[in-house]
Amino acid sequence: MKRSCLAMMLSAAALLLAGCGADRPPPGVQGDPQRGKIALTQYACHSCHVVPGVAGSQVYVGRPLDDLSKRRYIAGKVPNNQASLVRFILDPQALDPGTAMPTLGVSERDALDISAYLLSK
Ligand code: HEC
Repeated sequence: MKRSCLAMMLSAAALLLAGCGADRPPPGVQGDPQRGKIALTQYACHSCHVVPGVAGSQVYVGRPLDDLSKRRYIAGKVPNNQASLVRFILDPQALDPGTAMPTLGVSERDALDISAYLLSK
């Protein structure tokens, strides 16, 4: 068997494995929700928010993040879409000056994946 053919079969198998049981983002949503869920706990978003699918105490410093896929506005100000959700996570003050949500130093990739997770719930 040619080496390139073998490589193609292996990557097809890897894709299939990756697809098994994974939380798929809704159409049009970019990023990796599974990775986002892990990132979200690393930044301790659930220390201030109830986050769907993440175990923790019930905290309501910020509002629960369980209905973002249905919400029309973020922080009651910015029309809700993935791009503005990512911008809010990266720099909440820029979108909502004076907000009590702190800037947590989230990387762009993590913000994208976190938004993918929140929008798939
Ligand atoms: C120190 C507490 C705190 C932490 C930690 C925190 N938040 Fe927040 N967050 C808030 C508060 C307070 C608000 C409400 C701000 C507002 O509505 O202006 C908020 C608002 C939000 C909103 C807008 C919700 C809405 O009502 O539209 C999103 C989305 C959000 N946070 C996501 C996150 C994510 C993702 C993380 C982790 C990377 C995180 N937050 C970490 C306190 C926190």
